[in-house]
Amino acid sequence: MILVTGGTGYIGSHTCVALAQSGHDLLILDNLCNSRADVVDRLEMLCGKRPVFVKGDVRDAALLANIFAQYRITAVMHFAGFKAVGESIEMPLAYYDNNVNGTLELLAAMRRANLRTFVFSSSATVYSDPDGVPLREDSPRSASNPYGRSKLIIEDILADLHRAEPDWRIARLRYFNPVGAHESALIGEDPQGNPNNLMPFVAQVAIGQREFLNIWGNDFATPDGTGRRDYLHVVDLAKGHIAALDYLNLQGGMLTVNLGTGRGYSVLEVVKAFERASGCVIPYKVGTRRPGDIAQYWADPSLAYELLGWKYRRGLDQMCRDAWRWQQQCDKRGTSD
Ligand code: NAD
Ligand code: UD1
Repeated sequence: MILVTGGTGYIGSHTCVALAQSGHDLLILDNLCNSRADVVDRLEMLCGKRPVFVKGDVRDAALLANIFAQYRITAVMHFAGFKAVGESIEMPLAYYDNNVNGTLELLAAMRRANLRTFVFSSSATVYSDPDGVPLREDSPRSASNPYGRSKLIIEDILADLHRAEPDWRIARLRYFNPVGAHESALIGEDPQGNPNNLMPFVAQVAIGQREFLNIWGNDFATPDGTGRRDYLHVVDLAKGHIAALDYLNLQGGMLTVNLGTGRGYSVLEVVKAFERASGCVIPYKVGTRRPGDIAQYWADPSLAYELLGWKYRRGLDQMCRDAWRWQQQCDKRGTSD
């Protein structure tokens, strides 16, 4: 059985489906600070079996000890954490506590339970020179905000742990920009309040919840002046976790890989693709740059292919179609609540 922390969240829920499809039983631990309990019902429909769900916090050592004593957990996938860059600048202690302490508690509890297979959600945010594209796993790292620093610290803790105790099997997966939703539209990204990220914002403009998209700058050194990113369908990302777990079970060791497509799309290209997918016009205004934004970055995903045989399969049009289907479903749910 796999313990999935943060399993009712955006990426965790899609990974639960992929895990169930690969024959794994699931135990989700989530405190629901950024997700809803009814995701478990939806996962039951998609997985064909209800995951065990424990509402609780990864920082709760007694709860973790109980879970490890009660269930035969063979590996942990750790998604639980906070992820908003702006919020992390305002509340650094909360971010270090939840992200860093949460991971430390979990690792300590795993160690006590003699369990040593761990898959961690890292991020492309750990790269310090995003303009040196494509980004490779050995590209320089640094952080410019507490969220990014929490990921760097955890990456380093995991490296130290593996150095000290080489029987740990650890994957550090560096996600690029996850977007889209499961094609069933039963699960997807459910941002509370104003979405920070581009795709959910565009979807809300398309459905008429927001008047227009604010494009943060069109004076970058990119072909159309708007920022370029490596968008990756969340279902492809989820499958990357299965490939990583299989690798760890077979090879052991410490794995650090980018999960991205290897190509960048500009904000304007995303807007056009979303218009095609939804049939809606997306009004936009060009504003000033968002502080801290960089012009462009994308992954070199070749190591993931080489080591894991993993490669993205879903292109930008499908990402937009699936994000649109999910947005329409959210809208229906919102009006019927
Ligand atoms: P999410 O907020 O949708 O999911 C995180 C889940 O963890 C939520 O369900 C939340 O309720 C839960 N959670 C948070 N703190 C917890 C705690 N202390 N105990 C138990 N549950 C807790 O976020 P997501 O987009 O699915 O991201 C998952 C992971 O991937 C995060 O670690 C995030 O930093 C990382 N990541 C995300 C992105 C992205 O763009 N979404 C990019 C790179 C990395
Ligand atoms: C953001 C986070 C980053 C995180 C990543 C994936 C910041 C500064 N960075 O990066 O740490 O790893 O998400 O979750 O928050 N854009 C607009 N208008 C909008 C929203 C976005 O023009 O309303 C533009 C941005 O300027 C950028 C692109 O769209 O060029 C993508 O933005 P976003 O989805 O926020 O992702 P990142 O900038 O890569």
